[in-house]
Parts: sequence; structure tokens; C-alpha cells
Amino acid sequence: MDHAARSLRVSLLGALGLPLGGCCPSELPTATETTTVSLDALPGDTGDTGDAGDTGDTGDTGDTGDAAPGVCPTDAAEVAALFEANGVYAYWDDIELVQQSGQDCTYSYSYTYNPCCGYGRPYLDEAGHPVEAEAGAIPGWAGQARPITHGLGAAARALAGAWWRNNALAEHSSVAGFHRFALDLLAHGAPPELIEAAQRGAAQELRHAVGCFSLAAGYLGAPVGPAAMDFGGRAVIARDLAELAAWTARDGAIGETIAAYLAERALADTTDPAVRAVLAQIVRDETEHARLAWDTLRWAIEVGGAPVRDAVRAVFAGLSEPRLQEREWIPELAAHGVPAPGRELAEARTAISEVVLPVAAALLSARAA
Ligand SMILES: [Fe+2]
Ligand SMILES: [Fe+2]
Repeated sequence: MDHAARSLRVSLLGALGLPLGGCCPSELPTATETTTVSLDALPGDTGDTGDAGDTGDTGDTGDTGDAAPGVCPTDAAEVAALFEANGVYAYWDDIELVQQSGQDCTYSYSYTYNPCCGYGRPYLDEAGHPVEAEAGAIPGWAGQARPITHGLGAAARALAGAWWRNNALAEHSSVAGFHRFALDLLAHGAPPELIEAAQRGAAQELRHAVGCFSLAAGYLGAPVGPAAMDFGGRAVIARDLAELAAWTARDGAIGETIAAYLAERALADTTDPAVRAVLAQIVRDETEHARLAWDTLRWAIEVGGAPVRDAVRAVFAGLSEPRLQEREWIPELAAHGVPAPGRELAEARTAISEVVLPVAAALLSARAA
């Protein structure tokens, strides 16, 4: 386990008053999914993708026996390349080919856990879809962050600008996510320290949004800000403590834990001073947000008992594939806080296996005793 993952796990377990040992990810149930992907998506022939995931704890067998053209691969690395070529990012412990029909390959795979949502705590609508504003040439959102852009080509500036604009919109949505979380806490009798932390979280997400919009404007050379956010006329409040806990597990314990880890890993490769300043603040705050989420789960389970614990357990057990969107990337972007997509996926898996799952297992087993 790398230092960032270990320190984050220690921090979260410490916040819960739980011991470091005794974590048992296998306590969480496994699930099985079936997915069909097409050989047509492969570029040319079935070469390997060359992604440099540094953790490689699942499915990274190292040897890539070439499948014959037109034949569905069974080698784990080749299957991973086929999934990625189809834009399907799946996380599995075991996978097997079920059938081939023409160019379509159907696989069945099992896993202990996958994240279903993005990184951070966006405001989600009733269907669980993130609600984000549109970005536009809107002044007033530029803070102090000014990245150094000379020496960057036009393509790199555009990609970095798009990355930070998208992050800014997610951070902006998280402001609403925390305000809704505070209302949920109020609606279900939470103690004042949790409500206060939720209110502080909203202010911190606003600061992240301003920092990210500033970086986006710097790379794009024009003001960038959010348009009005459409809530559909009302905010949705959790119906009971179990729902509040399930949302907190999904949005905070999973989303913000992964966000904290990914931000810290991105910071390690970032050299631009302005980006480093924004990322360092995000790492500090997202770690605090993750602690708040886990602390909220501990409180909710204490108060609500078995129904709440079961709702939380179901979230950790029943989620599906990561949503890492395909995007262009070039190596010079790493210094500007933009990680390679393959690396980001590998790090998300590390955050899950080394931090989220062990902390969840510790929390759930402690409260089950
Ligand atoms: Fe944030
Ligand atoms: Fe956050």
C-alpha cells in the first residue's frame, strides 16, 4: 500500500475510533454482472494498451497472449484492453467469456465493490444523476490561481482548460450537495457538530470551484463560470435515516474518499505552483469531507441500528462500474494536475481496495458486534 492510501485509511479509521487491524474486505458480498463488448472497437489488431497502472491488483497478469483476430480474448489483460476500447471501465475479481456472437463478446464477472458515481460530492437528483450547471463566459469566478501557460501548446492548454472547467462544475455542484446534506442532517436530528461541518463543507466546495474556474480561465485564456443551476424547482430530502446514510455512503464515504486520494496522487506529479496551491487545498478539504461522511455513518448506525447498517452495507455491496469518461491526454498535462486516464482508473481502484473497503468493513463489523 502506498503512503497516501495508508495515511488516508489511518485518518478515517482514527476519526471513527476504530482500530487499524481486523479489516476484512471479503466480508462485503460479491456481485456478478454480464457485459457485452465488441471486437470492432479495437484499433487495428488486438495489441495491448500499455496502460501503466502502478497497482495492478486485479486482472493484471502481465503476459498478454495474443488472441487471434476476430476471436474474443480470455487473457485478463487483453480483456481489459477490449473493455477500455469499448469505453467500458469495469472492475473485477474474476471474469470469464460467456459467449461470442459475431464480433460481440459477452463476459460475466464478479467483484466485491465498484464505485457508481464520480469523484467528489455532486448534487444528485432523485434518479441519482449529477446536477451541474452549464459553463459559460461568465465573469466573477476568477480567483487568485494563475497557471503558467507559456511553453504549453494549444492542444495542451485546451485539454487542461477543459479538465479544470469540468472539475470546477463538479465542485460547484458539490456546494449544493453539501447544502442538501445539511438539510438532511437537520431533518433527521443530527448533532450540531455534523451540521456545522456540512455547512463548512459547502463553503470549502465553493472555494474549490473558484480555484478550478480560475485555472480553467488561465488555460483557456477567457473567463469561465457557471450558469444558473436547475434544481427542478425543489430539493429532495432523505425520507428517513437509512436513506440519509445510504446517500452519505455513496456521495461521501465513497465519492469524497476517492476524491481525496486522487487529488493527493495528482498533486504528487504537479509542478505548476498555482495548480499545486489549488490541489493542496482540495486534498486537505476532501480528506475532511471524507472523515465527515464516515463519522455521519457511524452516528446514523448508532442511532438507527440494523436498518441503517443494512442500507449502508447494500451501498458498498451493490454498486456498479466506475464512470471515468474517455478523454484525450498528453504527458505534459501531468505537471498541470491532469492525470493519465489509465492511471486515474488504477488509482481509483487503489482507493477502493486499500481505503474504502477496509474502512467500510471495519465500520460495519464494529457496529454489528
Ligand atoms: Fe471539492
Ligand atoms: Fe468535497
